[in-house]
Amino acid sequence: MAERGVNRRTFLRALSAIPVLGALAAFAAPLLRYLKPNLDPGLGLPEGRLRSLAEMDLPQGEQLALGRVEELAEPWSSRIFVYTQRYAQYTPEQARVATIPGVAIRLPWKVSFPGFKQGEEPTDIVIFSRICPHLGCIFNYVPNWREVTAGYGGYVPPEERRHGLMACPCHLSIYDPADRDRPGRVLSGPAPRPPYYFTYEIRDGVIVITSAEPGGIA
Ligand code: FES
Repeated sequence: MAERGVNRRTFLRALSAIPVLGALAAFAAPLLRYLKPNLDPGLGLPEGRLRSLAEMDLPQGEQLALGRVEELAEPWSSRIFVYTQRYAQYTPEQARVATIPGVAIRLPWKVSFPGFKQGEEPTDIVIFSRICPHLGCIFNYVPNWREVTAGYGGYVPPEERRHGLMACPCHLSIYDPADRDRPGRVLSGPAPRPPYYFTYEIRDGVIVITSAEPGGIA
């Protein structure tokens, strides 16, 4: 009888140790992975490619010819597109490709991006990622502000912002692509910052997207 009691106590003690062991394992696993990653730098990639991606800390994207400038001649005209971005990732595949929906908008006035890392000349073509900075839904460009008022939570823009706006259907964040001081400024909703932008050049009359804003979009 006494032996059965001892066995039960031993069993219960062993049982109570399981959560402790689990917690220890949860703590140790990332540490061990950090000390000994299962990644072989360069595996499956041309030599040095991952290294250069990681060192530069810049998402690498394909340059994308968006169309001729005349196609965006009218104020508030727009073009949506998908941009392919490559970035380093700490997995056996090492690098991932993401596709980022974007929108280019012609503004009736020039704006600049003084608050961003990469200073740009004032421009009347702005190009944004459509990934919402709140929780990552894809937002819309809405040329008619009345549609924003009717369908995105009743936000009514003040007089000077009654023009094309960007609006997210998920939690109703609204952005102004044409804000003179901070293009993409958050006007309403929970978004913490403006959407990321793309840089571009005009080559022989063609708008070519050259890169995503440093800091990562995907
Ligand atoms: S994901 Fe766009 S507002 Fe929440």
